[in-house]
Amino acid sequence: MNTSIYYFSGTGNTLKVAESLKNELILLGQQVSLIDIASTKDIIQNDTMVIAYPVYGFNPPKNVIDFVRALPNGSQKVYFLKTSGEPLHLNDASSLALIKMLERKGYIICGEYHYIMPYNMIFRHSDSLASKMLLTAKARLKVAAQEIDEGRRRPILMPLRARFMRVVCKIEHKGMALNGMLYKVNKNKCINCNKCVRLCPNKNITIKNGKFVFGSNCLGCARCAFQCPTDAINTGLLNFLKVNGSYNFDADPSIAELPKFCQKSYQRYFDVENHLD
Ligand SMILES: Cc1cc2nc3c(=O)[nH]c(=O)nc-3n(C[C@H](O)[C@H](O)[C@H](O)COP(=O)(O)O)c2cc1C
Ligand code: SF4
Ligand code: SF4
Repeated sequence: MNTSIYYFSGTGNTLKVAESLKNELILLGQQVSLIDIASTKDIIQNDTMVIAYPVYGFNPPKNVIDFVRALPNGSQKVYFLKTSGEPLHLNDASSLALIKMLERKGYIICGEYHYIMPYNMIFRHSDSLASKMLLTAKARLKVAAQEIDEGRRRPILMPLRARFMRVVCKIEHKGMALNGMLYKVNKNKCINCNKCVRLCPNKNITIKNGKFVFGSNCLGCARCAFQCPTDAINTGLLNFLKVNGSYNFDADPSIAELPKFCQKSYQRYFDVENHLD
C-alpha cells in the first residue's frame, strides 16, 4: 500500500511528526510521499492520504482548509495527523470542517492522530519537555503507522464543548490576517538577513523602499517571528504571546518538568505504556 502525507507546518513540529510517520510506514514496507501543501495542488490518486496540520485556535490553519476545499472528488481513505501545544480535549473537534468537506467529495475518513508538541506561540515549553514530546510522539506513531498500513478505522470523538470552541474560534483566521498587518520589524535589532521574507509560507512579507511590509494574507503561523535570529519582529496585538527561537529537541528528556496546569492530561499523554489511545 502507498501513502501520501500532505502537511503544513509553521515552525517545524508537524513536519517532524509527519517525517517520523513516514519512517514508520516505510519500515512496514510502504512507499510514502511527504508533500508540503504549499507546493502542490495535485493529489496522488489511489494512495491513502494523511493530512497533517498544527491546531490554530481549535481549528486547522486557513491554508489547510483551502487545500481541502480545492481537492477534486475522490474515494481514498483519509487520516488526520495533528499537533498542538496542549493536551486539551478542546482541540478534539478541529478537523470537523475538513471532515465535512472531504465526505461530501467522496473520501473515506478513517481516523485522526493527535500529538502534543511544544508551543510556538502563547508560552515557551522547556527544551527537555520539547524533547520528551518528540520522543513520545515517535513512540505513539508506531500504532498510527500500523493502523494506517492496515487501513483500519478508528472513530474520531468530538465532545460538544470542543465543537462549540471550534465554532467560536473560527474568527481566528480573519483575526490573524488583520493582526498580521500590524507586524513590525525593529530596525535596531534587524540584521537584514531576509529570512522572514524567504520563509513566509504565504509570501506575506515584502520589502518596499527599504521598509518591511506585512500584507493581509498572514496565517498567524508564527514562522517569521519564531525563526528571526535577532527576535526583531513585533507580532502586533499578539506580541505578548510570541515565542522566539527553535527548541533543542536533543535536550535531556529525563529532567522535563510538566507545566502546572493540565498536569493530569500531560501525564496521561506521556504514559505511552498504559494510555496508547
Ligand atoms: C496561531 C496559533 C494558534 C494556536 N492555537 C492552538 C490551540 O488552539 N491549541 C493548542 O493546543 N495549541 C495551539 N497552538 C500551538 C501549535 O498548535 C503547536 O505549537 C504546534 O505544534 C505548532 O506546529 P508547527 O510547528 O508545525 O507549526 C497555536 C499556535 C499558533 C501559532
Ligand atoms: S528575519 Fe529578523 S533579522 Fe532577518 S530580515 Fe527578518 S526581521 Fe530582520
Ligand atoms: S507573516 Fe509571519 S506569521 Fe504571517 S504567514 Fe508569514 S511567516 Fe506566518
